[in-house]
Amino acid sequence: MIYARLAQLVEHPLDVGRVTGSNPVSRTTSLLDKLGASRCTHYMIILGIETSCDDTALALIETRGSGESFECRVINSLVHSQADLHTTYGGVYPALAKREHGKNIIPLLKKLLEESRLPLRGQTSEGKPLHEEIVETFRADVTSQNAELFEALVQAQFLKNIPSIDRIAVTEGPGLEPALWVGISFTRILSALWNIPVAPINHMEGHIVGSLLNSETPHGTWQKLQESRFPALALLISGGHTELIHIQGIGNYSIIGQTKDDAVGEAFDKTARLLGLPYPGGPHISRLAQEAREENIPSPTPLPRPMIGSNDLNFSFSGLKTAVLYAVRKAEETGPLTEQFKKGLAREFEEAVRETLISKIKAALDTIEVHTLIVGGGVSANTYLTTHISKLAEEYSIPVLLPSRHVSGDNALMIALAGAFQTTTKTPGEIRAHGTKKLGFN
Ligand code: KG4
Ligand code: ZN
Repeated sequence: MIYARLAQLVEHPLDVGRVTGSNPVSRTTSLLDKLGASRCTHYMIILGIETSCDDTALALIETRGSGESFECRVINSLVHSQADLHTTYGGVYPALAKREHGKNIIPLLKKLLEESRLPLRGQTSEGKPLHEEIVETFRADVTSQNAELFEALVQAQFLKNIPSIDRIAVTEGPGLEPALWVGISFTRILSALWNIPVAPINHMEGHIVGSLLNSETPHGTWQKLQESRFPALALLISGGHTELIHIQGIGNYSIIGQTKDDAVGEAFDKTARLLGLPYPGGPHISRLAQEAREENIPSPTPLPRPMIGSNDLNFSFSGLKTAVLYAVRKAEETGPLTEQFKKGLAREFEEAVRETLISKIKAALDTIEVHTLIVGGGVSANTYLTTHISKLAEEYSIPVLLPSRHVSGDNALMIALAGAFQTTTKTPGEIRAHGTKKLGFN
């Protein structure tokens, strides 16, 4: 099935966000106000585009109001995962990711628009064939970045109809640059053809705002975002990042801790690969670890808790991965890895990650005063880790905002939502992919 994860998202397009913790909410200094929701005063329909890694994702949302009255409604959110294709490489292979995004993004947009039934604003230049318009606007630019995308674009006659979209929000980075460029090139074309301004979005900011979405909201209705008090601490844990962010407001982030080498998701993926499990490895490791706890299978060998005693808020996961490698090699000396060994090692690995994350969040909470903890990124799908993070937040009497299952991984809903908070937009020619884009730096 081509759209493996897509059906799931279409089925529950609004099931997005859950909160734990129960601290009182201040109505005067709400996080939403500080995050810039107050800036979104007009009714808007926003198209979100995300191609930073191995998920091609598109979403349409509506927003209205500002500050306390800010609301959003999900029209549609689709994700086409390439994970199965990258399994053989044990990680994301950038050239393949780029090719697949180029192949899938146009059919995905067609599906998104057909299902959403947005009213049309008109047609692109009357009487002129679509390919002429595209050639005129961006041929040199797009062909230099993605010939496949260009060829697909000139065939996509539905693009002549201009849907009533007010803004396109696209991930500009961080991520795999060849993959990011597909979303950017596509956005440039759409923005020029349809005359719609663009909000370039930092992928990590997307993960932060994605965790503010509310899961309690019934299907298809307007929702207010989670409210909580400001300033906030965010723990972003994904395949490419492990960061602690001190959030004062949108565009006002300070990275106060980050990994010196591998990201935590990457460590999950590499450990899984060493244990012969498919990519992405996080869910597999997590499942084995859970089975080990249930079956009382002990750790076959202790693994390090990297940088747990360092006097800063930084992380390092490459040593943990190397320790897994040595443990696996040693076990293989006596024969193939047993299920018992895999489960025990997965359990020990998850414990090492848990202790490391908890100790660093604790150190951050002891260092800065915050009133909310936000967790985002693909690894926040790990309920063992988030249960412990929630317990810690409870000890500090602060609420924790966790993304729901549908927005913990990469998606365009979070990108569209981040787009609502942007005060300025750009023209197509002004946007570029930035593979190493940092939060808080424009
Ligand atoms: O945010 P994300 O979807 O993509 C990036 O921006 O990197 O994160 C993907 C990462 C992968 O490393 C994947 O193995 C990890 O999230 N992941 C998990 C779990 N589900 C996904 N890690 C641990 N436990 C999980 N349940
Ligand atoms: Zn991500």
